[in-house]
Parts: sequence; structure tokens; C-alpha cells
Amino acid sequence: MGQSYDIAVIPGDGTGPEVVEEGVKVLKTAAIKFGVTYNLKYYGFGGEHYKKTGEILPDAAIEEFKDFDAIYLGAIGHPDIEPGLLERGIVLKARFGLDQYINLRPVKLFPGVESPLKDKTPADIDYVVVRENTEGFYAGAGGNFKVDTPDETTIQTAISTRKGVERCLRYAFELAGKRRGKVTLAGKTNVLTYAFGLWDKVFNEIGDKDYPNIERDYGHVDAICMWMVKNPEWFDVIVTENMFGDIISDLGAITQGGLGIAAGGNINPDGVSMFESIGGSAPKYTGKNVINPIASICSVAMMVDSLGQMEMGKAIEKAVMQTTPKLKSLSAGKMGYSTTEVGDLVVEELKRDA
Ligand code: IPM
Ligand code: MN
Repeated sequence: MGQSYDIAVIPGDGTGPEVVEEGVKVLKTAAIKFGVTYNLKYYGFGGEHYKKTGEILPDAAIEEFKDFDAIYLGAIGHPDIEPGLLERGIVLKARFGLDQYINLRPVKLFPGVESPLKDKTPADIDYVVVRENTEGFYAGAGGNFKVDTPDETTIQTAISTRKGVERCLRYAFELAGKRRGKVTLAGKTNVLTYAFGLWDKVFNEIGDKDYPNIERDYGHVDAICMWMVKNPEWFDVIVTENMFGDIISDLGAITQGGLGIAAGGNINPDGVSMFESIGGSAPKYTGKNVINPIASICSVAMMVDSLGQMEMGKAIEKAVMQTTPKLKSLSAGKMGYSTTEVGDLVVEELKRDA
């Protein structure tokens, strides 16, 4: 018998449960094909659960998640709930609580998908953003006083630690070693001299010492944004700090066809990682069977890959690449197929491609 995996599933809000169901369908087919087994345990965290119980994501759940091999997340965000509350309380809490220090965002243009970048083809758009996921502005260091007076004052500070920077850079170098061997550091050394002085120093130090065969490249983040649009083929792995990574990974997502297809992983290479589609809970499409499940299916491919089932991950990705040319569009309601039909198309391809 093959490997067995325990996976915690958080379908979440809005269309989250619909896309997760398609991901699970694909996982089931792939697992049979590759002779692995898995157990799913569903958790009801999200907006409805919060409205009913006042609970967002308790510490006990974080502890429980540590016993799983991975977490598969749908979408978080509820129209009745103050924006950010659930995102911070669930997504960020899991990232920090499980020390998922890498946010991995592949930017890959699939066949038949229209990119807003003129004349760019799948051969041009195939890189990965490695975003530091537990520090920077997201560490939440700051405060305010004299709130709601004319003297209101606030400070929010970005934290970078040697340990946090180094482990992120090492991840990027290792990843580049398995790809085309190039890492681009997106920084801002000309202005943010303290933070990116550290990033740049460690980048060159460990690059020289431990990754001499990996090509190193540096760009200020504003320039990187221009090149992501004009010359995406220059990139293999882009590594950067948390906030910059948040911004540039969404820029990357739109160049690969948008939220219908963009998937991401919150990775702790030595612990429990969490995989998600990048799109939100899309409340207006909830229950209509029109949302695109491809992003969520791609996050399943990333999940099994991170569990060491690389062939299985590749097979899922291949099945998706055989499916995307059949879709009229990646947008909800315009695919030419329903959510469940798109899941079925991927399953068919997976079965066919024996
Ligand atoms: C992302 C999201 C999150 C972030 C939100 C939901 C907190 O935008 O995964 O990129 O800012 O990191
Ligand atoms: Mn984001």
C-alpha cells in the first residue's frame, strides 16, 4: 500500500466549499491513480461559524492542525463581517501559528489562457514568487495614540530578522536549483536601507557560499513590476519580503489569467503547510455553480507535490493544462461550463492520461 496522508479541509465562506469540492474530486481520482490514500477532516471555520459562535480560529485548532500532513483551504471572507477580521483571524493566524514562512505563488500561463500581456505565450510566463510569509509589516508591530483627535498618531514597523530572511532566501535558492537556476531578489535597497540591506547582504553571502551555481539577480521592486509586465520571461524565481510579495504576486496572478487560476501555498518545509486558491469567497456567485475551480485544483497539485507526491502533482497540473484550452474564459459564469463540469473535465483528463 502507498502512502497515506491526513488532510485538514477548511472550505470556508462563499464559493470556497464549491471549489474545494472540485479539488477533492480531483484529489480522489489522482490518489486512486497513484495508489495513495488520504483521510480528510473537515473544519467549519469561516464567516457563518463566527456569526453563530463568535469563534474565529481557536488556538486549540492550530494545535490540532499540527497533527495533519497538510491543510486545504477554500476561501475566507463574509459580506456581513468587517473586512480583515476573518482573514487575519484565520489565514494569518494559521500562517503565524504554524510558522508557514514561505508563501509560494507560481505564475504560469497555461495553454489556451488569455494573458493581458500582449504577445506573451506560455513559453514566456513561467516563474515563481517566493514571498516571506511571517515578518515584514505583517508581524503587526506598531500602535497608535490620540486616536480620533487631530493629533492622531500611528506607527507600523516592518520586521526583518536574519533567521527569517535567510530561511526564505535558502528556500528560493533551493527551488531555483530544481528549476532554471536563477533567483531575482526584489528589494528597495536605495531607500529601505536597513531592511533590504539585510536581504541583500544575506542573499550575496549565502549565494556565494552555498549556491554558487545559481544565477543571482537584483531589482528594485518598482522596476520588477515593470519587467513582470514587459519581460516576464526574464524570471525564474523572484524572492522578496512579505508586503512586496503580497503586491507582486497579485500582479503576477493577473498576467497568468487572474484569480480563476492562481493558486498558492503557505509553506513550512518542516511542518504543516496550507494550500489555497488566491481568489476570495466571491459571495455574489455563491451556490450558483459558476465559479472557476481551477485555482483550487491547482492548489491541490501544489499540496500533493509538497507531500512528496511530485508525479501526482505533475499529473494534476497536466490534466489542468489539457482542460484550460476547452474553457471559453476563466471568469465565473463565462467558462462555457459549470463549476462541477470543469472539475469533471479535469478528472476525465486525469483518467485518460494513464
Ligand atoms: C494573500 C492575501 C492575504 C495577505 C490576506 C487575505 C490577509 O491577500 O494571501 O495574499 O495579505 O497575505
Ligand atoms: Mn494578497
